[in-house]
Amino acid sequence: MSTSVPFRSHQGSAGSHLPTIGPRSRAAFARAHEVFPDGTTRVTVERDPIPRYAANGYGAYLFDVDGRRLLDLNNNFTTLIHGHAFAPVVEAVTRQLSLGTCYASPTEAEIDLAQLICARVPGLERIRIVNTGSEAVMFAIKAARAITGKPGIAKIEGAYHGNYDWAEVSQATSPAVWGDADTPQAVPFYAGTPASVLDEVTVLRAGDPDGARRRLAEQADAIACVLIDPMASRAGLIPPDPAFITALQEAARANGILIVSDEVLNFRQSYQGASARYGLQPDLFAIGKIIGGGLPIGAVGGSREAMAVFDAEGKRAMVPQGGTFSANPLSMVAGLAAMQALDEAAFAHLEHLGDSLRKRLTDRIAQRQAPFCITGAASLFRIHAKVGPPRDFRESFSTPEEAVVLDDLTRLFAAEGIILPKAAAACLSTPMTEGEIDLIVGVFDRFLETRVDTFAELGKP
Ligand SMILES: Cc1ncc(COP(=O)(O)O)c(C=O)c1O
Repeated sequence: MSTSVPFRSHQGSAGSHLPTIGPRSRAAFARAHEVFPDGTTRVTVERDPIPRYAANGYGAYLFDVDGRRLLDLNNNFTTLIHGHAFAPVVEAVTRQLSLGTCYASPTEAEIDLAQLICARVPGLERIRIVNTGSEAVMFAIKAARAITGKPGIAKIEGAYHGNYDWAEVSQATSPAVWGDADTPQAVPFYAGTPASVLDEVTVLRAGDPDGARRRLAEQADAIACVLIDPMASRAGLIPPDPAFITALQEAARANGILIVSDEVLNFRQSYQGASARYGLQPDLFAIGKIIGGGLPIGAVGGSREAMAVFDAEGKRAMVPQGGTFSANPLSMVAGLAAMQALDEAAFAHLEHLGDSLRKRLTDRIAQRQAPFCITGAASLFRIHAKVGPPRDFRESFSTPEEAVVLDDLTRLFAAEGIILPKAAAACLSTPMTEGEIDLIVGVFDRFLETRVDTFAELGKP
């Protein structure tokens, strides 16, 4: 169970005012404001307050337009499992470029990629390929509605699932609005969210198996599917509690509710994806990110029976699914090259590095008796400014003081040449070695060293 710790303010401490963004990024951001609202094309871009403009990337490292080289633990939000400019992807895409970038006809490469995925993932027998994880989640929800004839969904509080209205509900909730622990409120994400959308979403807490059973039973007639990311990054990056998975699965089956596993991010957890790792047996999957090798992609998949909603058979499918760039050949050949290289040995390497990193960070915390904890699994990790570990989103939610500490931490990492995502998953990539783990642990330990005077007054973890 996690405990919030009141940090002393650190105005002017190491990390607070370190210059990590160069003049060229600053100039680019000023120019960007002339054309983009808020100066960016996606709200998720990390900035402090100015984003770092990328020039190129190679392997585990990103180079910014000001010539700085940084170890990349963001990897475009966990997409680049082989790091930047992975040679097999570069070759495949270069070859495809000269053959054409998109056709109204299907390609053989899309069948190759689909067969590779279906062969690996238990329960994923049929697949449709789209361009983003958001689309994949949207089509999985539509499929669940078509199959069950019910409109609503249940989802886990704090979990991020992309840009579909229903999936966005309560992704950015907070203590002021999240309501009782027993009945979390459905909180809108954007101004103008229709009330009907909020009425159609039941919010569950990952730390409350009994609540999941109760609420799914109460809403059985309204809920088509429960949407779950097995280790939701923005909800704390907390490996799932087996009791919660069991409760969810039993309650869903008992109430005619389908299970949609959103593995857009967590597909990187194993050769077979995330559900297989945690004993979850979904009816439908949404996947994305790594399967595109660094090009845009998403995919919805599931049993042959469930995926029959996309069958047209000469008529109109129950759920028609199209898209001008869906299964475009560049994403197909890039994804195939990346996934072919992602064999069991590659996953074992990532698992080993991840275990080593989490253990070494945790050891440093214990040694310094510091109020921090580490969550994550496989190639993913997250640092919390809490004595932990948190069990769910509410417990992982940063107080304003903790958020300041984490900002300082990210700044120190940037100043020392490491991109550490804030309040989300940090990830490793296959080109990394124990040398990169040394770098990360070293910077984290230096950060703890600068704070050590504050820990004593806080009580021991
Ligand atoms: C769990 C999860 N679902 C869905 C999405 C949306 O994917 P995309 O950004 O490709 O639309 C993301 C993106 O980060 C994600 O992490």
